[in-house]
Amino acid sequence: MQIIRTLAKMQKSVARRDRSQVTGFVPTMGFLHQGHLSLVERCRENCDICVVSIFVNPAQFGPKEDLANYPRDLEQDLKLLSKYGVDQVFLPTQEDMYPSGYRTWVEVEGWSSILCGASRPGHFRGVATVVLKLLHLVQPQKMFMGSKDFQQTVILEKLLQDLNLETRIIRCPIVREADGLAMSSRNSYLNAEQRIQARCLFQALQQAKILYQQGTNSSQALIQVAREIISAAGGRPDYIKLVDATTLEERDEADDNTRLLLAVFIGTTRLIDNDALSA
Ligand code: PAJ
Repeated sequence: MQIIRTLAKMQKSVARRDRSQVTGFVPTMGFLHQGHLSLVERCRENCDICVVSIFVNPAQFGPKEDLANYPRDLEQDLKLLSKYGVDQVFLPTQEDMYPSGYRTWVEVEGWSSILCGASRPGHFRGVATVVLKLLHLVQPQKMFMGSKDFQQTVILEKLLQDLNLETRIIRCPIVREADGLAMSSRNSYLNAEQRIQARCLFQALQQAKILYQQGTNSSQALIQVAREIISAAGGRPDYIKLVDATTLEERDEADDNTRLLLAVFIGTTRLIDNDALSA
């Protein structure tokens, strides 16, 4: 496994690449868990060359967010990636990605300021910018992304479409713990009691799904049941919304193209989850 730490080395390696080979890319912020590794597996299965980046992107953290405390374990991450047969790990530095005087940003208008973007201003501008930069550097044909960050995936698909990039996003399913909690680096912030409370996100999605499958499609009723489960467990919803899976627009009625999206505070930790309500 090759470890590439500079932009120049990445560019050199791309220039030497055999163009008949398909390159797949998995961008991450590290502290890898089975969710990330499922993307790596998918990438290995579908591509000739598998490139993974680890970069904790300061531009997507707000001033009061957890950049300094964001969990990191590079040594363990590299061990895992090597075990999973990754070809190249890209570890750019902050100074290389955002040198002093850096001024250029990309934003997918509208979609970046709703849902998670409403409580995290600038977050999706930071995500869109770093992913576009990484794509220019790595030049993959395919990029593997998790549905756990549903809004992020939809926004990045729009970015690629609007800017005529040829990379295709492959959406991958959410990987969960045995009790349903979606795997996330941020789960490490939860204490034992909060870890149990955190089950409420998945339980809320499950109950809403049961209700929908029994014939309820009013978003109000579906959101209400989710809210009750979350509140009973001691969670504090940031938002619970039923949205169109393609346009992220809020919908009054659920159908097979809607998705229930949640962001919930468990203590001070903000967790997200989502699901389609159809089977
Ligand atoms: P990060 O949170 O490290 O996630 C990297 C990728 O792993 C994303 O595509 C995310 O959706 C996926 N992922 C995380 N948890 C998952 C789970 N439980 N099941 C399936 N996939 C999961 O998302 C980011 O980093 C950053 O915003 C990034 C795109 C790297 C830009 O900085």
